[in-house]
Amino acid sequence: MPTLLTRALFAVAVSALCVGCGEDDDNTDPDGAKKLYEQIVADKYTEWDRAPGYEMREKSGAPHGGEVDIYVNDTVAAALAGDKISSWPVGSIIAKDGFDGGKLSLVAIMEKRKGGWYWAELDGSGGVLFSGEPSVCTDCHGSGADSVRAFGFPQ
Ligand code: HEC
Repeated sequence: MPTLLTRALFAVAVSALCVGCGEDDDNTDPDGAKKLYEQIVADKYTEWDRAPGYEMREKSGAPHGGEVDIYVNDTVAAALAGDKISSWPVGSIIAKDGFDGGKLSLVAIMEKRKGGWYWAELDGSGGVLFSGEPSVCTDCHGSGADSVRAFGFPQ
């Protein structure tokens, strides 16, 4: 018979094991945008592959700056080079720098997590504008290929 104490210790052990794992999947964490931004900066995202169709800075009609650079991480690049899929794999990150008059005005990021896409938008100086699953992002992106608007799935 487990005593209350062993049960309590078990609960503590289980929650200790999960430090960080809940955090990664918390799509409502307001600091998530900042963390995700710092993560991609550390990962030198401007050296990632460019998104298909965005091999150079492109004019954009989307609300992310007049001109955009769009980068995909290795997970997306591998998926693009692979077989037909109907959703992007967990771990996919797409980052988009928006420019107005040649000046960085916006950084928009989406990361595929176990719970779905995590959305982040920061201004040109790293201030958080949106974080989590804001309907402003999900509504407009709903028409995309698993929410991706700039390019489709590999055929
Ligand atoms: C009114 C429509 C609209 C809204 C709102 C919108 N986007 Fe986008 N987004 C687009 C379109 C269209 C593209 C395709 C690329 C382009 O032309 O810039 C895009 C591209 C992107 C990309 C590059 C990957 C992709 O899906 O093509 C990211 C990342 C992104 N948006 C993030 C966001 C975030 C974060 C928000 C919310 C803060 C947001 N977007 C809100 C229309 C929208």
